[in-house]
Amino acid sequence: VPAIVLDGKALAAQVRQQVADVLKAAGSPEVCLATVLVGADRPSRSYVAMKRRDAGELGITSHHTDVPGDASQAEVEDLVRSLAADPAVHGILVQLPLPDGLDPDPVLDLVPAEKDVDGLTERSLGRLVRGLPGLVPCTPLGVLRLLEHHHVPTRGQRAVVLGRSTLVGIPAALLLARKGIDCTVTVAHSRTRDLADVVRQADIVVAAVGVAHIITPEMVKPGAAVLDVGVSRSEEGIVGDVDPAVGEVAGWLTPNPGGAGPMTRACLMENTLAAARLQGVLPPA
Ligand code: GUN
Repeated sequence: VPAIVLDGKALAAQVRQQVADVLKAAGSPEVCLATVLVGADRPSRSYVAMKRRDAGELGITSHHTDVPGDASQAEVEDLVRSLAADPAVHGILVQLPLPDGLDPDPVLDLVPAEKDVDGLTERSLGRLVRGLPGLVPCTPLGVLRLLEHHHVPTRGQRAVVLGRSTLVGIPAALLLARKGIDCTVTVAHSRTRDLADVVRQADIVVAAVGVAHIITPEMVKPGAAVLDVGVSRSEEGIVGDVDPAVGEVAGWLTPNPGGAGPMTRACLMENTLAAARLQGVLPPA
């Protein structure tokens, strides 16, 4: 039996429609997402363009700043400081990675928690660790939404997260272990011994390392849910962490592209709406 497709494109369209409906019902208030792109990295440029297009389609204004790749740490920080202070800006997204030589953490930490639509500041990540309400990183949130929407069982299930990045792996592990989701979580990474054996234990696999097709069918427990978040660029174009042949073993599988990517962007729109609520632009949900 081929795996059920965790269609991120379809669910993302639903999530975006919900955001648009809420904005409309609230009388279409002015909501503004500020995007910051430092340098000319091609994929980052296209990710930011897609985020801005999504925003525009939902009636969210975007305010974009293109910063030259040779900008100093202080220049980037000054920009974020001014967006943080601007009452017309409700969400701030600094596209990552920053060019070599710039330290992202001090830049991200200038984003006030209520404008932190990426959920990547010290404060937002700390709240996630504590289990407090707050804005949650978009990619892990999208993964959770896909599992929920397709009623993939999570309570007491074994989840293996491959990758320990702040952007995806660590927040995904925290969310999966949360009360109400209740997975037993293992975080695997480049130093993990016997990776195939570790992955084979998993009922849920979240692969987020950016190594082309590192997850092969032999590594997957029959019937498992496999979420392919990885992106690597090869001559054949964009390739995920999961070998497509996994679809013959898995119970559920995200297409890639068309899985985690669109869900990341839809959750950014959801987070922007939540940020606007935190700032009193919209009534509480
Ligand atoms: N680069 C790749 N994914 C993301 C993301 O979700 N947010 C930001 N800011 N940068 C990214």
